[in-house]
Amino acid sequence: MKLSIIVAVSENNVIGIDNQLPWHLPADLKYFKNLTTGHTILMGRKTFESIGRPLPNRENIVITRDEQFQHEGIVVKHSIEEAIQYCRQKSDEVFIIGGDTIYQQTISWVNRIYYTRVHVLIENGTAFFPELNMEEWKMVQSDYYLKDEKNQYDYTFEVYDRMLTDD
Ligand SMILES: NC(=O)c1ccc[n+]([C@@H]2O[C@H](COP(=O)([O-])OP(=O)(O)OC[C@H]3O[C@@H](n4cnc5c(N)ncnc54)[C@H](OP(=O)(O)O)[C@@H]3O)[C@@H](O)[C@H]2O)c1
Repeated sequence: MKLSIIVAVSENNVIGIDNQLPWHLPADLKYFKNLTTGHTILMGRKTFESIGRPLPNRENIVITRDEQFQHEGIVVKHSIEEAIQYCRQKSDEVFIIGGDTIYQQTISWVNRIYYTRVHVLIENGTAFFPELNMEEWKMVQSDYYLKDEKNQYDYTFEVYDRMLTDD
């Protein structure tokens, strides 16, 4: 199993406002879809409820402490450890797709971060992504795009790999 995070982050580390994304960026949604389709995605219960349905053509794992929680088309796990243990049997890439609490608890486990930097400051954020420690992460890709009629802010598709200790 290769374990990766995928996230879109404002210049001031905001990822959400009141359980919604702070922006309308169809190019990022397409990028997310292209990367995750055919793979397993792992998310917190609030992110699942924000999306509102299982994402098609992917195995959807939802983490909750609620023993009663269930929904058609998802696999429910009750701890991060249980979810990651379940994913160990996968031979391909597993994507952690948020939100804030799940990223915080899993960032030390992952080797790659697909990091869309959204070039805006969001003042009223309620969900955040940790500041990357650049002694631990090496940027391996960076593609910058200007806003257009469909995408409201400039954005950069960055990819970071965890540095090996002897890098
Ligand atoms: N910009 C992006 O790329 C991006 C991506 C994803 C999400 N988001 C945004 O992030 C926000 C949601 O983030 P969030 O932090 O509020 O919620 P979240 O991380 O999606 O979900 C939190 C919930 O996950 C469950 N959970 C967390 N840790 C757990 C653990 N160790 N064991 C068992 N269950 C656990 C709990 O569910 P129960 O309460 O049911 O027990 C908890 O309330 C939204 O605004 C969303 O739009 C942004």
